[in-house]
Amino acid sequence: MSAVSSTVGVIGGSGFTELRDLEVRQTNEVTTPYGKPSSPLSHGRIDNHEVVFIARHGSRHDIAPHQINYRANVWALKRSGVQAVLATATVGGIDSVYHPGTILIPDQILDYTHSREHTFSPLDGDLFHIDFTQPYCDSLRSKLIQTAEQLGIDVVPRATYAATQGPRFESAAEITRYARDGAQVVGMTAMPEASLAREVGLCYATVALVVNYAAGRFDLQINAEEIKHTYQHSAQQVWAILAKTVLSLADFECRPPPPIRA
Ligand code: HPA
Repeated sequence: MSAVSSTVGVIGGSGFTELRDLEVRQTNEVTTPYGKPSSPLSHGRIDNHEVVFIARHGSRHDIAPHQINYRANVWALKRSGVQAVLATATVGGIDSVYHPGTILIPDQILDYTHSREHTFSPLDGDLFHIDFTQPYCDSLRSKLIQTAEQLGIDVVPRATYAATQGPRFESAAEITRYARDGAQVVGMTAMPEASLAREVGLCYATVALVVNYAAGRFDLQINAEEIKHTYQHSAQQVWAILAKTVLSLADFECRPPPPIRA
């Protein structure tokens, strides 16, 4: 097992364009071989623990899910020396137990995205594959779950996340299909972020917040007011889990599956 550097990367999704509790010491505009990340990298501390933060949809929340430069975001975090990345995401609930306000730690992904720059392979002429049996890092997921327990915040400890192309929401038939495929929640940004993180050996896990019921579920229409209301009530809990998990990662150890070269 290798010790993870104590600097933790955080990717903030919709509604999380700034990391609360982060004392920002430096903001760096960086470029990568893949272009610019979604936002400058904010370097700072939470209680003396080093954090690097990227706003996935940009600092002004103006980058749509299909326009996000996932490769630049992941590459920039890797180059900044982090080995563990915590992400936030908002999702639609497909099952009734995943009602708005539910916080969950996904453990599986179904990928329905397309036309996104989704891999670093081949890298420097080197063709490689990754083991993606467990798309999220189990040790990091356990840390998030334990932290939520310590804080007395209910989280659902696993869920299958259907990653869709967006930016439109889904049709009712698509959601029925995803449910049949085994998904419990749906969102637009898990992929290729999770697989790119695995490709460069980052430990990666997500805290997801259900902000609406998915299209056609429970005869409710997706509405912006409901989504805003849910952020206002539950975002604080997501931040609390993230911030306290960062503090628990000083001696964190994990070993993502290495690349496979045929
Ligand atoms: N579908 C896809 N992405 C989402 C949803 C949804 O219902 N809610 C939040 N992100």
